[in-house]
Amino acid sequence: MCGIVGYVGEKQAQDVVIEGLRRLEYRGYDSAGIALVHDDRIATDKRAGKLANLEKAIDEHPLPSSTTGIGHTRWATHGAPNDTNAHPHLGASGRVAVVHNGIIENFARLRDELERAGHELLSETDTEITAHLIEDEVVAGADLTTAMQNVCRRLEGAFTLVAVDSHDPARVVAARRNSPLVVGIGEGENFIGSDVAAFIEHTREALELGQDQVVTITREGVSVTDFDGNEAEGRRYHVDWDLAAAEKDGFDWFMRKEIFEQPRAIGDALLGRHDEDGQLKLDEVRISDDELRDIDKIIIVGCGTANYAGMVAKYAIEHWTRIPCEVELAHEFRYRDPILTRNTLVVAISQSGETADTLMAIRHAVKQRAKVLAICNTNGSTIPRESDAVIYTHAGPEIGVASTKGFLTQLVACYLLGLYLAQVRGTKYGDEIAAVVRELAQMPAHVERVLADAETIYGLAERFKDTKSVLFLGRHAGFPVALEGALKLKELAYIHAEGFAAGELKHGPIALIEEGLPVFCVVPPRGRDQLHDKMVSAIQEIRARGALTIVLAEEDDDEVTPYADVRIPLPTVPTLLQPVIATVPLQLFSCELATLMGHDVDQPRNLAKSVTVE
Ligand code: AGP
Repeated sequence: MCGIVGYVGEKQAQDVVIEGLRRLEYRGYDSAGIALVHDDRIATDKRAGKLANLEKAIDEHPLPSSTTGIGHTRWATHGAPNDTNAHPHLGASGRVAVVHNGIIENFARLRDELERAGHELLSETDTEITAHLIEDEVVAGADLTTAMQNVCRRLEGAFTLVAVDSHDPARVVAARRNSPLVVGIGEGENFIGSDVAAFIEHTREALELGQDQVVTITREGVSVTDFDGNEAEGRRYHVDWDLAAAEKDGFDWFMRKEIFEQPRAIGDALLGRHDEDGQLKLDEVRISDDELRDIDKIIIVGCGTANYAGMVAKYAIEHWTRIPCEVELAHEFRYRDPILTRNTLVVAISQSGETADTLMAIRHAVKQRAKVLAICNTNGSTIPRESDAVIYTHAGPEIGVASTKGFLTQLVACYLLGLYLAQVRGTKYGDEIAAVVRELAQMPAHVERVLADAETIYGLAERFKDTKSVLFLGRHAGFPVALEGALKLKELAYIHAEGFAAGELKHGPIALIEEGLPVFCVVPPRGRDQLHDKMVSAIQEIRARGALTIVLAEEDDDEVTPYADVRIPLPTVPTLLQPVIATVPLQLFSCELATLMGHDVDQPRNLAKSVTVE
């Protein structure tokens, strides 16, 4: 998720672009850059770090006056956040500049093609190849719009591209596939943005582009085509939001926006990581296949929500790879003097990549010569930098302190790791792995269906807004989901909430059950040996003692109905993947309950987004 701005009009493009980037900085802040068209040349500056670094650089080395320009704030996916990888990227001769949001799946093949043709690519990004390809087209005589169309037809994946051509200062051209892009329509000027926050101080007339469309903006107007050059229509609308709402895409909280972003985030986490045959391709796993075949133990470390992701991962990884897999709270890990060898793989899960407890854990593992693989959402952060390998979750910036899309994409990354290990070690046949990959590819749609039921969940929050305690029960992979649901409620609503393995109830916690106590019950899919029936028994036990049961179960699971005061229907998915969808209603419940209680959902009391102290 990056911030993108494009402008052509009568104002100083630098002012419009920099201000637009400031309003989009929440979308990414690894680096920022700008390109201006001036006197048949492109003047550009780009710096790692926050927008302020770029502004300081421009103050020291002013850019020329221009009324056509593009800009970018980056959330790194390919390539560390440094000056070289910052956008904009230029073509071979510096005639074309491009900024990009998204992931180009086939960039490696296109990069090889360009390098074989003599192009020298300077960055590690997937974006730079588009600047070279578009420039080749305009040098061969195409106008910038045609060049964009021709190149987009060759790209696979998700992208918003915005380009300028130094020989054609009158226009800015953009294209989108599976990534947001809106046009701001002004008087004698027009704007491009990754969302309306980029331009609503100038105009509230917007045009949303459809899938596989190219837009050309000039001072005089806006024209839209498809990738083949046929005329097309965008969706015209008036923006009613204020700026704060625009940054949250109209949601009241970043957390709620991020809950609803989860289908896209899951899709991005999967993008480019398997081929059409379901064969896994984890380029960032820089541990050799031979070393992976020698792994004889896995220890997953993390804190809070990340630890619960590890607990889910254990079920999947052990089932698919038959490698013993332990899960350890990062802050406990090194004090228990763990048994680590060169054949131990320590997996560190961290959204921020800066959690001190987790960082200290991997430093201990590295000292003991274990292999370390990070699962992280923040490109270039400390934990992946100090690890042997990384799987980035590609969730985009997670602003809400309570992790939501960070968690679901951690699950997806853990599944990908487990399947990759099974593929490398041959513990599952290719068709078995492909079957799970196909199920994973369905997850965005399944999460969409659960989100469509949000109003029911909000009604539950209204019903329980005065409750003083809530319990969460789950079995197998549903147990960590119960723990995560309880954590969300604690950190957002500040009320007592506790997650239990359902089988543990009769060993003590059932004494907590009293009349009217709300208990969320995560029921595993049917057909999985006795798991489902034992969960139903647990629900019967608590209901017989007065609990108010809120049952999350497959939508056609009639066995639970007699014991459910409230039903939350879930799409049918494999047991190991159910945490991806079962967590969503619990996120929605906590977010809504905290909102009703008047709490600051994005910045809950006493909490920080990244706990950088031990
Ligand atoms: C989750 O909602 C919390 N914000 C917290 O448990 C968080 O998951 C934990 O601090 C780990 O953070 P990390 O993923 O950035 O390492």
